Amino acid sequence: MSIEILIFGAGAIGAFYGSRLAFNNDVNVSVICRSNYNAVKSNGFSVESPQYGDYKWMPTRTFSKPTEAQKAGVNWDYVVVSTKALPDVNDDSELLQGLISKGTAIVLIQNGLGVEEPYMKRFPEAIVLSAVTICSAAQPNHGHIKHNRWTRINSGPYPENSAEATRRNELFNNYLVKGGVKDASAYSAEKMQLLRWHKIAINAAMNPSSVLSGGTDNASMALDPDMYAHLKGVMEEIFEVAPKVTGKPFPKDFATAEQILNSTKKNPSGSKPSMQIDWAEGKKMELEVILGNPIRLAREKGYEMPRLHSMYALLKAAQRNREENSKPKL
Ligand SMILES: NC(=O)c1ccc[n+]([C@@H]2O[C@H](COP(=O)([O-])OP(=O)(O)OC[C@H]3O[C@@H](n4cnc5c(N)ncnc54)[C@H](OP(=O)(O)O)[C@@H]3O)[C@@H](O)[C@H]2O)c1
Ligand SMILES: *[C@@H]1O[C@H](CO)[C@@H](O)[C@H](O)[C@H]1NC(C)=O
Ligand SMILES: *[C@@H]1O[C@H](CO)[C@@H](O)[C@H](O)[C@H]1NC(C)=O
Ligand SMILES: *[C@@H]1O[C@H](CO)[C@@H](O)[C@H](O)[C@H]1NC(C)=O
Repeated sequence: MSIEILIFGAGAIGAFYGSRLAFNNDVNVSVICRSNYNAVKSNGFSVESPQYGDYKWMPTRTFSKPTEAQKAGVNWDYVVVSTKALPDVNDDSELLQGLISKGTAIVLIQNGLGVEEPYMKRFPEAIVLSAVTICSAAQPNHGHIKHNRWTRINSGPYPENSAEATRRNELFNNYLVKGGVKDASAYSAEKMQLLRWHKIAINAAMNPSSVLSGGTDNASMALDPDMYAHLKGVMEEIFEVAPKVTGKPFPKDFATAEQILNSTKKNPSGSKPSMQIDWAEGKKMELEVILGNPIRLAREKGYEMPRLHSMYALLKAAQRNREENSKPKL
């Protein structure tokens, strides 16, 4: 019997990891597409990668929407969610109804904090696994996945380490490793949340700052002394609050703000954070999971993050103004 994996949100990250999981002979990987459906249904994906070379991947099944996937009547072992996390636009967990059975593990590969909560609440019998990746990938046109660099992905049970969730998390991680993702690793629930906070410190500093500064790239931000001080201030604000919110110190091997910014300086590839790319394309930004949720989680425990809050307020207003201005005038 094959393991059945369904990717919900077959964009840059979903299709890249899906294509690696599909290298396991005993794994079938199917996808739910949206705007790229016609291209993928006809030709599958072509992946271009400096690390793995160029290859084609035809998913086992290609669906145009979740209700079509339901009709296939498969008992999914894993449903990977790799849509953009936009809880202010849509509760994606709702779309998975009818696809989750008792043995299904839902794997969230998304940036941000608090992304697991809607899935855990809606599917109390399912296993929820939480994952973050530093992989850089894009889909420049439908069905064409460009892997730029890095593959590291970490996943862990959510919210706690039940024996079954731990087992399923390790199995999923093994499929990634056997699919060539050598630096995939399985974490505990606690370490995973600390990693999410650590990743959010980088994203919450770099992403909004790039948008608010008119589209500055990563290295240029770190090289500008005033921007450097600002980015360091944001990261340290989060590094200080996160252990208080989670009740656990950061592991010693997690990079400091200075280490992160020093390595950003040395990487003048001109690449920009995803939030800037979304803003430039007129798309919604992942403001709630990257800024709003950390602010709210901290506030629930009595901590404020004023630097983060300023950027959140400014970007929410900028997004709102743009939406208002793009409405047809009566
Ligand atoms: N790309 C990276 O390098 C990177 C790195 C680290 C983390 N991440 C995180 O990974 C997550 C995914 O990012 P991404 O860059 O892969 O985004 P993406 O390329 O935009 O992929 C998301 C995909 O989900 C699809 N989708 C959304 N709602 C859907 C629905 N209701 N039904 C079917 N398909 C749906 C989108 O379809 P449409 O084309 O129709 O919108 C798109 O193909 C985000 O949380 C992001 O922050 C990304
Ligand atoms: C799933 O994979 C198995 C091999 O492991 C294969 O025999 C089967 O046909 C695949 N399912 C579909 C729908 O292609
Ligand atoms: C730029 O910074 C963002 C952090 O928000 C990161 O996600 C992205 O991978 C970085 N790009 C490069 C090439 O360093
Ligand atoms: C960062 O770079 C500065 C300037 O090159 C150096 O003085 C400092 O030691 C570096 N810090 C770390 C943590 O690497």
